[in-house]
Amino acid sequence: MATYPEMMGRAVAITGAASGIGEAAVRSFYAQGAYVFLLDLDYKGVEKIAAELGDRAYPIQVDITNPQSVLEAFSAIDHAGTGLDIFINCAGGYKKLLTVEKMDLEEWDNTISLNLRAVFLCCQAAIPRLKKSKAGRIINVTSISGRTVHAASSPAYGSAKAGVTQLTRFLAYELGPYGITANTIAPLTTLTPRVAALRTPEDIARIASQVPLGRLATTDDHVSAMLYLASDGAAFVTGVALDTNGGRIML
Ligand SMILES: NC(=O)c1ccc[n+]([C@@H]2O[C@H](COP(=O)([O-])OP(=O)(O)OC[C@H]3O[C@@H](n4cnc5c(N)ncnc54)[C@H](O)[C@@H]3O)[C@@H](O)[C@H]2O)c1
Repeated sequence: MATYPEMMGRAVAITGAASGIGEAAVRSFYAQGAYVFLLDLDYKGVEKIAAELGDRAYPIQVDITNPQSVLEAFSAIDHAGTGLDIFINCAGGYKKLLTVEKMDLEEWDNTISLNLRAVFLCCQAAIPRLKKSKAGRIINVTSISGRTVHAASSPAYGSAKAGVTQLTRFLAYELGPYGITANTIAPLTTLTPRVAALRTPEDIARIASQVPLGRLATTDDHVSAMLYLASDGAAFVTGVALDTNGGRIML
């Protein structure tokens, strides 16, 4: 993975830090010399990873769907005294593959709450902190399912992720005058534990066969894009959706 010396001493907060793409991001930003705040519902998970990493890693429990919990998590970041330079919304996902016709309202509301409302809540809390940074960055993780309909997925999830793409454009527009960039990365199916449990081996082979680059994504594919968007070299890139999808869809 590329090295970004400017990450040394910067402070990055990552939601969904206990698992999958978020955990991989935590490890990479830490390796680059950043202070890393690991935000997750799974406190034991982030506590374990932070203990393994060292004293620039801070585990924080948060339920990103709960406004009070989000405020408390950002207060905990303030207490560390590092400021906040980069905020990555990575927590998200869905529980059931359903059609619009079969989806119950509870599943719809819970999925929208986790994948869209929570991103709004967290960005709103992050903004005043990022305004104090010299190189503020917001990176929201969406999904190929929010960019097009290419396979069975969750309609609530895809709709929420498409909403995050548009929310991110508003953030880019509003925060540009403060030198803060806001972008998304839109991953293809990635073999994290959650996805491995949802997809059969046949599903996985079928998805890979449809990708011009011939494979599913790895967590590093997405983390490389995050590091780039967080870097000084991406200071003039904002409002962009970066599709880390191996060419599966081209927009
Ligand atoms: N893995 C994929 O194939 C894939 C594909 C496209 C997009 N994505 C997106 O990438 C992101 C990461 O996906 P992943 O598969 O690595 O995730 P994951 O399921 O491995 O991890 C998600 C993390 O979010 C945490 N979390 C869940 N609800 C939370 C809440 N209310 N508050 C705080 N934390 C909470 C979980 O504890 C978990 O640690 C998600 O936004 C997902 O939608 C993933």
